[in-house]
Amino acid sequence: MGERRMGQSKGGNPLFAAVYDTIMRPLEAWSVRGQRRRIGDAARGRVLEIGAGTGAMLGYYTPAVTEVVATEVDPHMLKRAGDKAAGARVPVVLREADAQRLPFGDSEFDTAVVALSLCTIPDARAALAETRRVLRDDGQLLFVEHVRSLRPGVARVQDAVTPVWKRIAGGCHLNRDTVGAVEAAGFRLENLWRSGKRRGSIIQGRAVPR
Ligand SMILES: C[S@@+](CC[C@H](N)C(=O)[O-])C[C@H]1O[C@@H](n2cnc3c(N)ncnc32)[C@H](O)[C@@H]1O
Repeated sequence: MGERRMGQSKGGNPLFAAVYDTIMRPLEAWSVRGQRRRIGDAARGRVLEIGAGTGAMLGYYTPAVTEVVATEVDPHMLKRAGDKAAGARVPVVLREADAQRLPFGDSEFDTAVVALSLCTIPDARAALAETRRVLRDDGQLLFVEHVRSLRPGVARVQDAVTPVWKRIAGGCHLNRDTVGAVEAAGFRLENLWRSGKRRGSIIQGRAVPR
């Protein structure tokens, strides 16, 4: 069902794109798959996905979705999303785009989805502000992310490791305050699950425009 619209940028990280699905496989089986399923089940209408990567979310959308516009800044990642777009149950448009400067008009989308990308997008707050702009006032933001732990000892390790980690993991930060960033971008959290008795590093939730 997928239609492909991609730019000609020569940027991106071909090695990270090549190994991403393999690295993620055990994590998907461990817990991410269930989180993706919950997001897919909650998505409605015209959906914008930012930082869509190799299209790992695309198989989870249900027919309650009329179209997914899956955006991604790295053409090597996006290229790998083609097969998953073709196998999706809903129409998918793949589009090369920087989440910090989305090429869409105001209020174009009913649902925005971000999965494991706010750790990597250089200015997550700018991306969330852009997401808010293109989302309808009665829309929703669905997310699953890893973030800075609320346990001080773990958070200190995350702070220490991040400078090296981001170099080997495609720009990924282990220590972002993504809940704060979502709220600062004009969203109100409707529900928020957090691992580790609500103090851990994995969050999943739904936020709506304030
Ligand atoms: C860890 S991957 C997650 C991919 C996918 N969402 C998933 O669930 O597997 C993070 C993605 O964010 C993308 N990304 C980084 N900066 C971005 C930006 N400015 N705009 C859009 N995507 C970006 C990366 O290229 C990468 O594909």
